[in-house]
Amino acid sequence: MNIGIIGAGYIGSALAVRLTSLGHSVYIANSRGPETLKDVEQKTGATAVTAEEAAQRGSDFIVVTIPLEKIPDLPNNLFEGVAPAVPIIDTSNYYPLLRDGQIPELETGDLTESGWVQQHLGRPVVKVFNNIFAEHLEKNGQPAGTPGRIGLPVASDDTAAKQKVMALVEELGFDAVDGGTMRESWRQQPGGPIYCNDLPANQVKEHLAQLGTERTPEQHAEFLANQNAAEKHMEAQGIKLK
Ligand SMILES: NC(=O)c1ccc[n+]([C@@H]2O[C@H](COP(=O)([O-])OP(=O)(O)OC[C@H]3O[C@@H](n4cnc5c(N)ncnc54)[C@H](OP(=O)(O)O)[C@@H]3O)[C@@H](O)[C@H]2O)c1
Repeated sequence: MNIGIIGAGYIGSALAVRLTSLGHSVYIANSRGPETLKDVEQKTGATAVTAEEAAQRGSDFIVVTIPLEKIPDLPNNLFEGVAPAVPIIDTSNYYPLLRDGQIPELETGDLTESGWVQQHLGRPVVKVFNNIFAEHLEKNGQPAGTPGRIGLPVASDDTAAKQKVMALVEELGFDAVDGGTMRESWRQQPGGPIYCNDLPANQVKEHLAQLGTERTPEQHAEFLANQNAAEKHMEAQGIKLK
């Protein structure tokens, strides 16, 4: 397959390593231009291109994996000419304290983080890979049927795109779990029980069922408070996200 990846950091590189090792052609981009990605090309086997080229050459999948605050910087016409059937994967998470600053639409109300991303991109997205550490994504995939295989939720309003992405998740060595619609994708966001806990599919499904589908204001506040505590803990450890 031909896969375009916009963002060549931790997640973009981890995906590129795995996808090239599975025999796929990967086109990867950052904000500074392909000439700055020689080391990434060497490490991953992907071809460095511009973001526009990654969108055009990713004829099977396009992955957008850049910091949330940078999403509005992407060119308006990035997906012009890209067939509507090509799934656009979004891996975003909201880190208001350490990276993204406060985005009022994400602090209250119904909008989910990837819902905000798809509004900016002007295209439906598929939310996945947001709730696993890059190193685990690169190294902890296992064959189907392995006990304890990690389950990853996949959420989108585009059911055909979601099915294609779920097959890709399986190919990468994880159990794909249907995470519902974009409106329901809050359940896999930071601060919740299935965020970066490497749970097997049955436990992911149990949490999704227990959380329900409609987010209450209390659940929203609880997830944000948990994320704030996690960010403060990271800050105390000297972890920087930008
Ligand atoms: N790190 C993880 O373990 C992890 C896990 C799950 C989800 N996530 C989420 O996935 C997203 C990416 O995270 P990351 O850790 O991989 O980020 P990262 O290591 O900081 O890398 C970000 C990449 O995005 C590129 N970029 C920024 N603005 C761009 C633009 N306008 N056009 C093209 N490329 C642009 C950067 O390129 P330049 O260097 O040239 O600016 C860089 O290659 C974030 O939302 C993050 O929260 C991360």
